[in-house]
Amino acid sequence: MKRLPIGILGSGKGSNCRAILERIRSGDLAAEARVVISDALDAPILDIAREFSVANAYLPPGQFRTRLEPEVENELVNMLREAGVELVVLAGFMRVLHARMLKAFPRRIINIHPALLPKFPGLEAWKQALAAGEAITGCTVHYVDHKIDHGEIIAQREVPVLSGDTPESLHARIQIAERELYPAAIAEFCARYQAGDL
Ligand code: GRF
Repeated sequence: MKRLPIGILGSGKGSNCRAILERIRSGDLAAEARVVISDALDAPILDIAREFSVANAYLPPGQFRTRLEPEVENELVNMLREAGVELVVLAGFMRVLHARMLKAFPRRIINIHPALLPKFPGLEAWKQALAAGEAITGCTVHYVDHKIDHGEIIAQREVPVLSGDTPESLHARIQIAERELYPAAIAEFCARYQAGDL
């Protein structure tokens, strides 16, 4: 069976990465994780990659806080290409990608966001939804473009806001939904790849 070669980028805890790697290991997802890359040296997502025996790398991001230095972004493109990656999966990657990456992987970079976009882009989206008094929030898988949490929407999952929810309880419930939605969305790409339609 033809497996979709993916690369996962993340800056933090890696619960989405773990969910994806578990689905691959159990045979539910026809993908192959070629590499996990982080801009944070001590990010747990790198430990998860090692746990699953997936190639992994720390990419020193350079001097900027919210993006990669241009040479570093070039280096990232090279790393992903050398690994043969066909789909770039952002899983808690806290930097905005720019033209180099977007041109190298057109409609091949996806992200998951903890809100029903276009509502509540940006940081701590679950807190934003709670503060706005939403009855329903959720999570969104979308293509990455040059704006934060903005590209075309691929899939969404609703999560109810319960009375008595704290930011933590709501976030935890959204993350459970994320761990189902993201592998399911990636499975669609796998099917297209197998059909020669990616
Ligand atoms: C997720 O909640 C995702 O929506 C956001 O970053 C978080 C990453 O969490 N983009 P994790 O590292 O996958 O646990």
